[in-house]
Amino acid sequence: MRHHNLNILSIILFLSFSAVAIAGRYGGWAAINDINDTHVKEIADFAVTEHNKQSGENLKLESVIKGETQVVSGTNYRIVLSANDGTASKKYQATVYEKPWAHYRNLTSFDPALN
Ligand SMILES: *[C@@H]1O[C@H](CO)[C@@H](O)[C@H](O)[C@H]1NC(C)=O
Ligand SMILES: *[C@@H]1O[C@H](CO)[C@@H](O)[C@H](O)[C@H]1NC(C)=O
Repeated sequence: MRHHNLNILSIILFLSFSAVAIAGRYGGWAAINDINDTHVKEIADFAVTEHNKQSGENLKLESVIKGETQVVSGTNYRIVLSANDGTASKKYQATVYEKPWAHYRNLTSFDPALN
């Protein structure tokens, strides 16, 4: 009987540690390791195209410099990219929210990157 209780206790402990581990991942930002991933390129393309539509500018995506993702109810992408505005290459930071199962994407922010 004592053993039985101990087992239940360790299961409960294990479950609460797992819950904390999952909660830690959920909502935290994680670096994108492969910035050459086609999906990451697609998100960067979407950000630049959408920014051009909204601003009337004509930026051309050159490359993705780095990025991070955050799992929420969907995924937030925070991407630093290089784009050419017709005269020079500049760095921008874009945030895109994606809900793949709903085929939904929204450009949440697009700003010049500070570094
Ligand atoms: C991504 O592609 C560029 C250019 O093709 C290459 O120089 C770079 O090493 C690649 N990076 C990774 C992480 O694969
Ligand atoms: C897209 O993001 C912008 C900026 O956060 C927000 O104002 C807008 O309402 C969003 N669009 C939709 C359809 O949710």
